[in-house]
Parts: sequence; structure tokens; C-alpha cells
Amino acid sequence: MNKPEPIVYLNGEFIALKDAHVSVLDRGFIFGDGVYEVVPAYGRRLFRLQHHLERLNSNLNAVKITNPLSFEDWQQLIAQLIIKNQYNNQSVYLQITRGVAPRDHGFPDKENPTIFMMTSTLVKQSREIADNGIHAVSLPDNRWQNCHIKSISLLPNVLLRQQALDKGAEEAILIRDGIATEGAASNLFIVLDDCIITPPKGPLLLPGVTRDLIVELARGKKQCIKEQTITEAELNNAQEIWLTSSTKEILPVTMLNNKTVGSGKPGLLWNQMMTDYQQYIQDLEENTCD
Ligand code: PDD
Repeated sequence: MNKPEPIVYLNGEFIALKDAHVSVLDRGFIFGDGVYEVVPAYGRRLFRLQHHLERLNSNLNAVKITNPLSFEDWQQLIAQLIIKNQYNNQSVYLQITRGVAPRDHGFPDKENPTIFMMTSTLVKQSREIADNGIHAVSLPDNRWQNCHIKSISLLPNVLLRQQALDKGAEEAILIRDGIATEGAASNLFIVLDDCIITPPKGPLLLPGVTRDLIVELARGKKQCIKEQTITEAELNNAQEIWLTSSTKEILPVTMLNNKTVGSGKPGLLWNQMMTDYQQYIQDLEENTCD
């Protein structure tokens, strides 16, 4: 059977992916001048949409692009895109750039943003990861000072992730001035003295939607959780290390820089948190949360 054609959204139209074209003068292409979001959908139900759209709105404000759509319009368009595509579990990628204009660093006089959305299948975490975890390496965080903005200019993140892959690891954990900030495309949690710790929000890391849910779930269970700076030494001595994102959920790190983390297997607190997280997703699919 032929695979159904993926449908994307581009500037007001739902069209086949192969027909979606953007000008080479788009400032996204020329300057990486834009922001993006990744929103998962489970059983075609959007995961924490409000949080993703609020972050999108503050990112657009931060880069001085007027949000081209209302919350309700975003919600409707994303819902339509999900219905038009095949999979039950999808990851919706949406990107807004400052649009097409003659190449000039200064903003164009007239705003005409490009809006693009696509979805891909959301692959659930494998048994292999749950059993054995992943490997990570720590690398110097050489990104800019505005990592709270979900900018499409991802070259440093791309290079850092590739460096990790080249070392046989799945993700890079980034260190700035002796402090662990986040992963190349994920947020960081560690367990120390049976307490979960994640770095506080600020300009040096992305305020992850998954991160916030984990903090909420831990607090709801009266589990010890702190939003506190993590030093490189603490990272190296952690009982458990987790990396979180919308597409990867909660990844247990069992090797850091070729050294075993804790027992070398995904830890007890990871297991508990993953159970609570999966319950949240099940409730979402059954329509009891947003
Ligand atoms: N990235 N930090 C960085 C640098 C990220 O790129 C991401 C996610 C996160 C986690 O954020 P959230 O929980 O809201 O997904 C943290 C996405 C998934 C990506 O670039 O594909």
C-alpha cells in the first residue's frame, strides 16, 4: 500500500509536503531569523498546548515578530493539521520566520511572517532505553546568552549534538562556567541524595514544557524536587541523570563520559517519574487533562 502523502501548513494553506516551497529570500533561510515549537500529540490529543503556545508567544515577543495568529486560530489550525495526517501519535513542528525580504540585517519595514507547520510520527520510547538508558557526554556550552528563546538558529546545538554522536553518545550535556545548563535539545535533571534537581529557568536554558510537567508531577507527589544550579561536580556524582523533551519524554542517562551513572541502569526515581508521566499521557488520551 502506498504511504499517504504528508500534509503541511504553509501561509494559510494545507498542502502536500512536496508542494510546500519557500523563497530563498526568506529570512529564516538567510539569517535563521525565526522561532519554532514542537508540540506532541498522543492519540491526536495535543500535549500541553496552552504552555507551548504561551512559550511561542513570549519567543515571538523576544525576537520582535508580531504573533500572526490568535491562540484560538493556532489551536484550530494545529488540530486540523493533525486530523489531515496519518498517525495517532504525532509531533507537530511549527516555525515562524520574519518572512521574505531583500537581504538586509535590519528588520524589513513591512511585517510579513512565514508560517509553516508539519507533523511527523512520534516514536514512543523503546524498551531498550527503558532497560539500559542512554549515553551522554559533557561538552562546553558555547551557545549564545539567549538560550531561553527557541530560535531556529540551531547551528551550535547541531554541532554539539553531532560531537556527542561522534563520541558514541546520544546527547551532549552542556557546561557553562562549571555549571550544567541543559542538553543540546533537552532539559537536565539529576538525582542527588534522593532529591530531584533541575537548573532554575533563566536566559541560559530553554524553559521546557516537559521539564515543567515533571516539576509539577514531583510536587504533586510530595517528592523532594529543587530548581537549583547543578555544578559539573554534582553532575558527575549524580545517582541518576535524566534528559527531557517533548519528543523524547524522560531519557535515563546511564553512562556519562564513559563512566557509569549510579547502578548503570535507569534509576528508581526515573522509573517512578516515567510511570506518572505515562499516566498523565493516558489521562490526556482519555481526555481528563490538557
Ligand atoms: N527541543 N532544551 C533545548 C535546547 C531543546 O531544544 C528542547 C526541545 C528542550 C526541551 O523542551 P520541551 O520539553 O519543551 O520539548 C530543552 C525540541 C524537541 C527540538 O528542538 O526538536
